Amino acid sequence: MNRQFPEHSTLPKGTPTVAVVGAGQLARMMQPAAVHLGIQLRVLANDAVECAVAVVPDVIFGSADDVQVLRELCADAIALTVEHEHVSSDLLDELNASIPVHPSGSALGFARDKAALRVKLTQLGMPQPRWSVVADVQAANEFAAEAGWPIVLKPSRGGYDGRGVFIIRDEQQLAEVMGEPLRADAVWVAEEFVPFAREVAMQVVRSPQGQAVAYPLVRTLQREGMCAEVVAPCPESSEALNEQAAEIVLTLARDLDVVGALAVEMYVVDGEVGEALLINEIAMRPHNSGHWTIEGAITSQFENHLRAVLDLPLGDPSPRQPYAVMVNIIGGDADNLHYALLHCQARDPQAKIHIYGKAVRPGRKIGHVTVLGANVEELLERARHAAAYLRGDIDE
Ligand SMILES: Nc1ncnc2c1ncn2[C@@H]1O[C@H](COP(=O)(O)OP(=O)(O)OP(=O)(O)O)[C@@H](O)[C@H]1O
Ligand SMILES: [Mg+2]
Repeated sequence: MNRQFPEHSTLPKGTPTVAVVGAGQLARMMQPAAVHLGIQLRVLANDAVECAVAVVPDVIFGSADDVQVLRELCADAIALTVEHEHVSSDLLDELNASIPVHPSGSALGFARDKAALRVKLTQLGMPQPRWSVVADVQAANEFAAEAGWPIVLKPSRGGYDGRGVFIIRDEQQLAEVMGEPLRADAVWVAEEFVPFAREVAMQVVRSPQGQAVAYPLVRTLQREGMCAEVVAPCPESSEALNEQAAEIVLTLARDLDVVGALAVEMYVVDGEVGEALLINEIAMRPHNSGHWTIEGAITSQFENHLRAVLDLPLGDPSPRQPYAVMVNIIGGDADNLHYALLHCQARDPQAKIHIYGKAVRPGRKIGHVTVLGANVEELLERARHAAAYLRGDIDE
């Protein structure tokens, strides 16, 4: 079987189908927005355990590398979008001859490949860390001599959740890390180690018409390379920094011709005149730093992404409350998340707990908790407590 579609499905005439490459938690969280919009999603899954398969009735099973599979995914759909960047730009361009593809293959290339992004940001004169593609240990050593130790090494492709980010303190460590084989389509990117004051992210959604809406600049905290917490809006940011971020992100969305959601991860550093921003990386899809928008904004990132892909007017991105705090639930000892809901919901009736329906594995994102209100410290305590209880770290 390479298709799951219930026999009883009788979609009203004219119900648009949006095809989605990928069937993980991002596709899963698109589904409630699709339900409200009265449209159908069709997702592409590698196998049946992917967590969107349980909630989207129309599923194609197969590889995103296979053009026949992608054609089947797109058949009679109104548009194609992605929930991850691991699909070839050439294939997307080919499909674009018969269906609108958002984001386009060429735009997505900048989210897939960190070296391509760095080159493009240099061309656009955008603020970013010092960087260089380094072919071998000698070149990396030369880069470190100029930028100063430590340096950060990353393969240009294939990393996620901090896997593939190496902080290199000396020559010996450099030789060890670069001794490992790189995948054939990747190169090593060296970056200066940025002594950031904090990490932030901003999201925009842009429609094919060029309409764009920006969500507030948020503060993100990464733990072990993975997004752990988000505070929206970033409590420390000045108006000037917020404006600088919006300028960067809206300009990038336009210049990269992004349609759909664009998230830009940035570092806040002490500049010559106050705080400044440096771009870390980008994603062209709903992003972990925007999960708070499901309850915290008038229009969620998932709904606005679909509205953009469908070429509909975009919804208001304004926050509903002064602050939203989102804490990820990372797999730990507890394997029964449902049981833990009893305690968490009784303790905090206002907390919104999202469980992705994924098998629990240590270090894996399996859900998140969002709370809204006015006091950031109190919101952090409540969301951290629920996430820690759900993963089994605490029992009271
Ligand atoms: N040049 C740098 N200087 C300082 N810290 C860095 C640098 N590059 C990466 N980091 C740290 O490592 C984290 C992960 O890096 P990056 O975003 O490049 O990796 P990723 O695996 O592609 O990301 P994601 O977790 O978003 O999938 C950053 O959020 C930051 O905390
Ligand atoms: Mg990142």
